[in-house]
Amino acid sequence: MRKSVEKREKMDEWGGIWTVKKKEVLKRYLDTYQIALKNKPFEKWYIDAFAGVGTHSSGEESDSNPFFSLDFGDEDVEQELTFRRQGSPLLALQTIPPFDRYIFIEKAVKRCAVLSSIIDEHRCGKSIDVVNKDANEYLATICDEITLRRREIRAVLFLDPYGMQVSWDSLKTVAATGVFDVWYLFPTMSVKRMLPKSARIDPSWVRRLDAVLGTSDWKSSLFVPDESRIGQIRLFAEQPDFEKVRPVCESDIEKYAVERLKSIFPFVVDEPLPLYNTRGKHIFSFVFAMSNRDKAAIRLGEKIAKHIIKINREVT
Ligand SMILES: C[S@@+](CC[C@H](N)C(=O)[O-])C[C@H]1O[C@@H](n2cnc3c(N)ncnc32)[C@H](O)[C@@H]1O
Repeated sequence: MRKSVEKREKMDEWGGIWTVKKKEVLKRYLDTYQIALKNKPFEKWYIDAFAGVGTHSSGEESDSNPFFSLDFGDEDVEQELTFRRQGSPLLALQTIPPFDRYIFIEKAVKRCAVLSSIIDEHRCGKSIDVVNKDANEYLATICDEITLRRREIRAVLFLDPYGMQVSWDSLKTVAATGVFDVWYLFPTMSVKRMLPKSARIDPSWVRRLDAVLGTSDWKSSLFVPDESRIGQIRLFAEQPDFEKVRPVCESDIEKYAVERLKSIFPFVVDEPLPLYNTRGKHIFSFVFAMSNRDKAAIRLGEKIAKHIIKINREVT
């Protein structure tokens, strides 16, 4: 039966190893979160800031993956395929108990229209806003509303950009509310691609890196002396000689991202889930962060997130 799933999957090119994993992590977290907070007197919100079209179509992210740790079993082949085809908004809508409010943000006009019509089929009386806006702009609006009611609301925010779209200012605003649990698909590979060996970086890339990392000090952390040219390094130079350095590897970029996030969030998981494509390239790091300062909430969030990351790391 498993073979037939893989065969159909190949035919349809549904989903990729990392696409499936990110959804699996998110789905598990939402289910556990809603059960854990079931009897708490908060309004629970789910915000999908890069919501997409609601489904995953063929070819978009076409790595196929034989591993799948949500155990649907042989009887549930259709369920498994359905999971793979559903985008994060539809998966979030299936959370039991449901969230009190769902907000889906999608910037592209046509994609948002498709999402809207799919959501209409799954509304079932739920409070759902589909918003055709830029995520960074609209998150500021949401955070203003939440800040006024911060004692009443707890929220999960999913940040799933294609690349370098999440601004540091947005993260700072989210962190300041004190109510969010955040799953951020940090674009490790995009950052790596913006760090050329020569360290001569296009000024527009520098601005983008500054905006995503929230500092212009990243150069001294993301470039290291090139051992192969160590003899040529000016030992007493105060400024690093950028002609004799090399960019760090993806896992060091991930560590740096975690350190940066720790500067604004009270809790960030030390070891995010690295997501690889079929060629083994580390393309994203799925980071969990909490803006809630309450120690008991952090203990619980940390335990759940670490467990989910661990089981997904094991099936890599
Ligand atoms: C990776 S896809 C989202 C996939 C979706 N989360 C899922 O799992 O089904 C990223 C989406 O973000 C949208 N997008 C890109 N930049 C955006 C921005 N600044 N604000 C809101 N949406 C944006 C893209 O049009 C695209 O649909």
